[in-house]
Amino acid sequence: MNATVTARAHTNIALVKYWGKADTDLIIPQTGSLSLTLDQFYTDTTVVFDDRLTADEVSVNGQRLSTSQATKVHNFLNLVRQQSSRTSFARVTSVNHVPTAAGLASSASAFAALAGAASRAAGLTLDRTALSRLARRGSGSATRSVFGGFVEWHAGHDDLSSYGVPFVEDVDWPIAVVALVLDPHHKKISSRQGMQSSVNTSPFYPAWKQIVADDLAAIKPAILAHDFTTVGETLESNAMRMHALTLSAWPPYSYFNGDTLGAMQTVKELRAQGIACYYTLDAGPNLKVFCQTADVPALTARFTQQFGANNVIVAHPGPGIQFLD
Ligand code: PMV
Repeated sequence: MNATVTARAHTNIALVKYWGKADTDLIIPQTGSLSLTLDQFYTDTTVVFDDRLTADEVSVNGQRLSTSQATKVHNFLNLVRQQSSRTSFARVTSVNHVPTAAGLASSASAFAALAGAASRAAGLTLDRTALSRLARRGSGSATRSVFGGFVEWHAGHDDLSSYGVPFVEDVDWPIAVVALVLDPHHKKISSRQGMQSSVNTSPFYPAWKQIVADDLAAIKPAILAHDFTTVGETLESNAMRMHALTLSAWPPYSYFNGDTLGAMQTVKELRAQGIACYYTLDAGPNLKVFCQTADVPALTARFTQQFGANNVIVAHPGPGIQFLD
């Protein structure tokens, strides 16, 4: 009997971003990064290897993917087959749990869950470091979603030395992330394309590497000290400096839309009113607002007024990868 394994992994939001690869094949980043795993958004993925299959079968949210759509998953399964000396194809069933039908599903939770379920279904017993290295081959940010809480990705220099490490796994700090869904559609420029263009064409890229080193050095002690202001200022400036790479690339591009700028303005107004909150955003227009739990009601009230209740989702620190029976 072939084992059927289901794994659950949560998404993460980078506070100090990964933006650029040193090795595009192995997905070795140019710099380290640091994230917070979130409880509200996760992926459940079930994998079984089956000798009767004539190709890998992949379905996401009940929809069967075409062969070309499933290429990334198929390539990833090939890695698992190589590591385990399995030869059969696999059936992969994946469900993204996102509170609204809205652009927050991520490759981080998807590839971390796939790494867990596929490796175990293939008979491999990987520790979390090895799982993090495997998840990295699917998507860089998945490296960090193997762990809960605050997670650092050590850039390393080769396959063995590039993996996630829990920084503070059990977060005993009343913080929250208010996610604003400003555009539910798929991004037009993938993070893969976007970061490569930044590395190759932005004259600011060398400065970015120094910024990340400085931001990691600033944010780590601030997290340990629960210094909300330093963490907030560091994550907001880091996000804006990452997005400056997109504007300074050639051809230039941006992940912002009009609502992104409107929401940034609201965060500044809230701060001026004495509510400490800071924003960050990844390769898309949806803003994530980092705040303290006591301020969640005031923030959600303000953002609900601006963007509608369905587009405001409150998340808290979430757990690492889990295997479900
Ligand atoms: O994992 P990828 O290839 O989708 O890249 C993620 C890039 C950012 O989300 C923008 C930053 C990060 O560190 O997660």
